[in-house]
Amino acid sequence: MEAIWIQGGNQLAGNIAIYGAKNSALKLMAAALLTDQPCRLDNVPDIRDVRLMVQILEGMGVQVRREGESLLIEAKELGTEVPPEPVREMRAGIQVMGPVVARKGRIRIFQPGGCSLGPRPIDFHLRGLEAMGARVREEHGFIVVEAERLRGTDIYLDFPSVGATENLMMAAVLAEGTTVIHNAAREPEIGDAEKFLNQCGARVSGAGTGVIRVEGVTSLQGTSYQVMPDRIEAATFLIAAAAAGADLTLRPAPVVHLEAVLAKLSQIGVDWESPDPMTLRVRSQGALAEGYRPVHVRALPYPGFPTDVQPQITALLTLARGTSIVTDEVHAARFGYAGELRRMGAQIWVEGRTAVIKGCSHLTGARVTAPDLRGGAALIVAALAAEGESLIEGVVHLDRGYARLEERLRQVGARICRLEV
Ligand code: EPZ
Repeated sequence: MEAIWIQGGNQLAGNIAIYGAKNSALKLMAAALLTDQPCRLDNVPDIRDVRLMVQILEGMGVQVRREGESLLIEAKELGTEVPPEPVREMRAGIQVMGPVVARKGRIRIFQPGGCSLGPRPIDFHLRGLEAMGARVREEHGFIVVEAERLRGTDIYLDFPSVGATENLMMAAVLAEGTTVIHNAAREPEIGDAEKFLNQCGARVSGAGTGVIRVEGVTSLQGTSYQVMPDRIEAATFLIAAAAAGADLTLRPAPVVHLEAVLAKLSQIGVDWESPDPMTLRVRSQGALAEGYRPVHVRALPYPGFPTDVQPQITALLTLARGTSIVTDEVHAARFGYAGELRRMGAQIWVEGRTAVIKGCSHLTGARVTAPDLRGGAALIVAALAAEGESLIEGVVHLDRGYARLEERLRQVGARICRLEV
């Protein structure tokens, strides 16, 4: 089993290049199934979730080839049976549902798994497809969705679900007539999907607002598209720098997509600047020397504070001078990492969707386990700032979303490596 070893207390200095966004790349890979022509996606991170999505596509007969930072996808062949193993491991596997039903009229897919963040049903996805005329049934843990041709309609989401918005938007592209998705998610990755689809000949508008309109077309063509930079990865490095102490520059960092995080960091007292819209620089003496202020954080759908940065900022707040409250309004149970932070000396109590954090003067290195992807990132933040050595197990979770994590942190001065334990 692999683990990440960190000797805390080292200041970080230099530049980190931010990779393409996991949560956009995975959806664009699914969107490429809407056409039988070749698509080229540039800036696709080499992470485990992308590899799982490649397995899903290949399992359906699609040709996928990696060329450096790019993926070439050609769905001339497209089966309707999704291989169950990768879907069991990764919830984003269900994003192929909309495109495959729209193009082939049927899909059979295993109930998805993924990070354990509380109950994560897919009822919005299925209800939306039903509203478009699909028949949905469950058999032996599989979901079967069938429709001769989907029909455009009005869809109302109970919650602005990112995945449901994208799945239904993709399904609607080849549907007959117009689909309007109300209470749509507004995350920036949905804008990336809209741009990609329109470049392929789709007619989608409204991404970034709560109402998305899709006028169906009969076919799409292939295209070449550059995946947007990963705002969550940028936020993770930013917070790690604020905790450990650093003079660190991140680029390309989409400043406009990080406004809620940057506002909260300012409130905490973190010194950051953005010399241009794609660059962020953070200067810090480290949490202990800076005497950061405690804050209240509410993780909400975009443009609220991102739930995917909730664990990392909580780790930083364990080192603030006073009591902070962090609430997650998106995922019901995203504090699986709190017990691990406690092993490092953090004072943190969780009640339902809320954590109360009493800032302490220092953390001490410990042997801990990443419970999920961003929970693992929180432990990295804490270990970089802690006194002494930490060993973080459960590295498989970190590998889902961060490419070459130790190498990139080592290049800016962290004492970090991967070990067999
Ligand atoms: C996406 O997941 C992201 N994943 C998640 O990032 C992120 O945390 C989440 O959006 C919220 O921003 C990808 O993009 C691959 P949702 P998704 O549907 O689409 C409930 C990370 O760390 N819900 O917006 O699955 C659901 O249970 C990952 O990178 C239903 O009840 O999230 C949750 O409470 C983890 N029924 C809330 O909505 C449904 O049919 C938001 O989920 C769908 C969702």
